[in-house]
Amino acid sequence: MTRVALAAAFAMIVGIAGAAEPVKLPYEMPNKHMGVSTCSSSVCHGSVKSKDAYNVQLNEYITWAHQDTHSKAYSVLLNERSRAMAAKLGIPDASKAKICLDCHADNVPESMRGREFNISDGVGCEACHGGAEKWIETHTTKKATYEDNLQRGMFATANIAPRATLCVSCHLGNADKFATHRIMGAGHPRLSFELDTFQALQPPHHQIDKDYAERKPVYSRTATWAYGQVEAARMETALIQQHFSREGAPFPELALFSCHMCHESSMKKLDWMRGLTTPGNPPGSVPLNDGHVRMAIVIARQLDPATASGLLSMAQSLQEASGESRDRVASVSGRLEAALREFQPRVAAHKWNATEQGSVLAGLLDLGARREYRDYISAEQAMMAIELILIDLGKADRYRPRLDALYRLVEDDEAYRAEQFVTAMEQLRAALGLAPTAANAPRTIYRPLSPIPPGVSFTHPPPGGPGR
Ligand code: HEC
Ligand code: HEC
Ligand code: HEC
Ligand code: HEC
Repeated sequence: MTRVALAAAFAMIVGIAGAAEPVKLPYEMPNKHMGVSTCSSSVCHGSVKSKDAYNVQLNEYITWAHQDTHSKAYSVLLNERSRAMAAKLGIPDASKAKICLDCHADNVPESMRGREFNISDGVGCEACHGGAEKWIETHTTKKATYEDNLQRGMFATANIAPRATLCVSCHLGNADKFATHRIMGAGHPRLSFELDTFQALQPPHHQIDKDYAERKPVYSRTATWAYGQVEAARMETALIQQHFSREGAPFPELALFSCHMCHESSMKKLDWMRGLTTPGNPPGSVPLNDGHVRMAIVIARQLDPATASGLLSMAQSLQEASGESRDRVASVSGRLEAALREFQPRVAAHKWNATEQGSVLAGLLDLGARREYRDYISAEQAMMAIELILIDLGKADRYRPRLDALYRLVEDDEAYRAEQFVTAMEQLRAALGLAPTAANAPRTIYRPLSPIPPGVSFTHPPPGGPGR
């Protein structure tokens, strides 16, 4: 790499400025993957207790092996559910199939595997931290800095932009790997993702202390959420563009659409499901899944209203295009992805203050009261966002019972009832002392949610008369 290119790559990695170049993920980088056993000895990252004398914990392997499901990601391919899936898909063995291994293991080509590499380690250290060939020796020396390690091919997990791209690559998919509706239809669980919540769930094997903050960037939960949403929105849009640009079967890839619109709709219970990005869609159309895009609009509304209205109108055109033609979907999604990409450096660099966090929280609750979360996917996303912002504001404990009540309503997607969720959101809003919808209404940048005239209910009585 030339010096200029290296400087540019570094500027991108640390998120200084400029529209982000595509991140090279660990499986796309040239170094060999040496295997988890090369990291896990008890004098390295396999210490039982965390060691205060070093700047890292050294018990990372123990945390990963015992608490982090990534260490089991390969072995689930051998279980009953995966065997049933493989049989339905006509694959002899899920644990040998590339379409499964690409997300459930560190599936680099044979030539990139070191002697101790073992595919059955699942999503191992180097699936996230990058092939260790060139840094395994040097990164343990006293003078090795994070920057030195990155230059030797360590993946920049500490920086929000590459980290988000990394997690999204498996938890939503990317151009190389995707959980198609065919895979879903065979029994794969629906994928959902929110960067901050998933980091906490993993659980993390690093500790953010003074020493960490001197070596690496530190992000608030709101900042992690915001960047994660914008990156997931960008990937959602990129996947739409990729799949719609292809010639294909009469039905486009169904996993790009909102799952619950098909899997929960009923011909008797008439629920008008239009929302923020779909007011122009005719009745009976299947919306694209744009859950992350809708969150990106909420974030942009806070950081840059002009970007927000641009994203909103493109998101609406995208939904309308899905009823028109593949070509139009491909072109609108291309523009939307470019706009999100351009917005990313701002989001990566933004330091959120309490006023801004409060305002995003109010915005999320306001959308709730306006019945934006009638579909499950947005309710689930709204719930996670509301909780993490309250944590940042130091208010989560005080409102814990109300948060738990909201959680229970989104715990099971098939039991989700929008009416109950709206009521719980209104109650939380009142408890937080935030203004009701009417008072906020004139400030909203959103088009009216639905072309249904005032006074007409979203839920109509069934055609046969009352008594449903
Ligand atoms: C785009 C990446 C991706 C692909 C492709 C993929 N998976 Fe998954 N799979 C995931 C993720 C991520 C989860 C965890 C979902 C969650 O809990 O949020 C998961 C979960 C699962 C689970 C449930 C695990 C558990 O602990 O209950 C099974 C079983 C599974 N996958 C099997 C398969 C099989 C078999 C294939 C190939 C036919 C496959 N997966 C392809 C990403 C993928
Ligand atoms: C699913 C992705 C993932 C996997 C798998 C993973 N890590 Fe990490 N690791 C991270 C992230 C994210 C961080 C936090 C950001 C950072 O400090 O780089 C991190 C941080 C670390 C740190 C830095 C702590 C510090 O104070 O600077 C060490 C050391 C580490 N991981 C070692 C390991 C080892 C050893 C394994 C395998 C046993 C492993 N990781 C597996 C994602 C992962
Ligand atoms: C190489 C693909 C891959 C990458 C990269 C990856 N994951 Fe995963 N992740 C998986 C798979 C597959 C599973 C399901 C494992 C299982 O159930 O056994 C999973 C499971 C999880 C779970 C448990 C979900 C649940 O429902 O219990 C969390 C949390 C998680 N990942 C967070 C993260 C975070 C945060 C990152 C980025 C730092 C990340 N993952 C990066 C593939 C990946
Ligand atoms: C346009 C409508 C539509 C959308 C959108 C859609 N599906 Fe499906 N899905 C179907 C149909 C039709 C079937 C086939 C039903 C059957 O085989 O009995 C199906 C089958 C399934 C099955 C297997 C059900 C069974 O009984 O074996 C699963 C699981 C599934 N889909 C999950 C999903 C997920 C997850 C999403 C979103 C990522 C999704 N679907 C999006 C229409 C849809």
